[in-house]
Amino acid sequence: MPRTESAVSAGILAPANAAKREEIVGLLTRAYWMEMETVMSYAANAAALDGIRAQEIAESLDADVTEELGHARKFAGRIKDLYGTPPGTMEFTPEQTYLQPPEDSTDVVSVIRGVIEAEAGAIEHYMRVIEACDGVDWATQDMVVDILRDEEGHLRQFERFLAEFE
Ligand SMILES: [Fe+2]
Ligand SMILES: [Fe+2]
Repeated sequence: MPRTESAVSAGILAPANAAKREEIVGLLTRAYWMEMETVMSYAANAAALDGIRAQEIAESLDADVTEELGHARKFAGRIKDLYGTPPGTMEFTPEQTYLQPPEDSTDVVSVIRGVIEAEAGAIEHYMRVIEACDGVDWATQDMVVDILRDEEGHLRQFERFLAEFE
């Protein structure tokens, strides 16, 4: 059993906040899986795309793989800080039906739409995490605000791509 008794009397590590901590660990675990699935989806789609029109999208996705993996690491580290255990792969359930590499490898628009859906889903979930942390877990909130800013940047970038391709 992990140690869950803390010496501090204030903040998210305080024994009095154990229930809140459990709730936040649950939200962070979901965030971790969303990032990990995004890593897989972006890597696969970047490799799958063909054609001159797709090249910039593929390169952008490849760069984002690294950034999303960095987010996953941050979530795993914060789960650990909150007396949790980052999940093992057997707990993984895929959800990104909309980010399967397209049958037509030149279908850039469907990939762009899939990325926008993934980023929008991340933004919505991270808003929930930020709100859950309010007043009790400033450090998680601060971390997730930074990550939210990255995802909003990704969303806007792919919205601009979509505008160009349509
Ligand atoms: Fe991310
Ligand atoms: Fe992202």
